[in-house]
Amino acid sequence: MLNKKSVEDLDLKGKKVLIRCDFNVPMDDERKITNDARLLGALPTIKYIIEQGGKLILMSHLGRPKGEPNKKYSLEPVAKRLSELLGIEVKFAADDNVVGENAKNAVEAMHEGDIVLLENTRFRKEETKNGEEFAKELASLADVFVNDAFGTAHRAHASNVGVSNILESALGFLVKKEVDIMGKAMANPERPFVAILGGAKVSDKISVIENLLNKADSILIGGGMTYTFLVAKGYSIGTSLLEQDKVEFAKELIEKAKAKNVNLVLPVDTVAAKEFKNDTEIKVVMSDDIPDDMMGLDIGPKTIKMFSEIIKDAKTVIWNGPMGVFEMENFADGTNAVAKALAEADAVTIIGGGDSAAAVENSGLADKMTHISTGGGASLEFFEGKELPAIVAIDDK
Ligand code: 3PG
Repeated sequence: MLNKKSVEDLDLKGKKVLIRCDFNVPMDDERKITNDARLLGALPTIKYIIEQGGKLILMSHLGRPKGEPNKKYSLEPVAKRLSELLGIEVKFAADDNVVGENAKNAVEAMHEGDIVLLENTRFRKEETKNGEEFAKELASLADVFVNDAFGTAHRAHASNVGVSNILESALGFLVKKEVDIMGKAMANPERPFVAILGGAKVSDKISVIENLLNKADSILIGGGMTYTFLVAKGYSIGTSLLEQDKVEFAKELIEKAKAKNVNLVLPVDTVAAKEFKNDTEIKVVMSDDIPDDMMGLDIGPKTIKMFSEIIKDAKTVIWNGPMGVFEMENFADGTNAVAKALAEADAVTIIGGGDSAAAVENSGLADKMTHISTGGGASLEFFEGKELPAIVAIDDK
């Protein structure tokens, strides 16, 4: 259990409450929000603070505008969407320097229950450097600070770690929920505990695999990183993705898993394609029989069956990373089948954010999962067993 202050430990009546959210949401070319899961995730804390009579000053980053103002990354569409979701006007403070005249005047004029959203904190170059001056400017707007941005908790920036060091600080409901559910799965999982890891590169998953070798009963490997493991087993992989400099490491992991009695499961078959595109020659082949001129782009049907059976018997499942190039219809079956197996499992099912969360949402099975994290990078670091700096920085109880 976390020994950190929670929003419920704060006296909020009439107070100006600075709240760090992760409103880094995907938008289309017209700047329409295409997935508002992160906005929905922030609502319980926002509503609670309104009920308690606080004055809410919301802040977030959006994208990576490289420390300067850029209309393409303005948070204005988020203010509009939040107003719709809450049925209350969220006033947008359109200051290129974030804490400018608009923000100061809007905050000055606030009554209990009013909401102001600041402009993208990454319009200031000090943000990602955890610059003290910017943290002080942000903190000067408020009486207390609440961090509810789980998706950004692995970053030590001015708007999370910096302000926590200045104001009385607490965690919001979203961060608490994420840490409670994922923390329990990692510290004290009901067994069998199965981890499913996919995505393109072994190098992105090194620390997570190492940490899970001490915790999980089975680790199922899919996605582009499969092929580096297959080379480690001595197979030829045609033109599939390979990280040559990670082959030795993959061999070591296979050995370590054996020594620790962890069931490290590699795909037995693969959907191979002539070219990296949806409409090309496609063939299902065994993992030790990939043709020289083809590349593996998804797990095959035998692997789907094998993974589904392991998932069916699990009591705790965590999943991070797609099983194939799921953005292309012909290579989405593996990822969709894993989502389906999780939805049907009688287990605690946790989806690390990012691509796997998007895949689960696309397949319409989101409400069948125990928890879909709002943090991609943050949940990965959590599964790696790392401390998240923005959580560490919050006041202890
Ligand atoms: C995310 O989408 O993972 C978070 O919002 C963090 O964004 P970043 O990787 O640009 O820091």
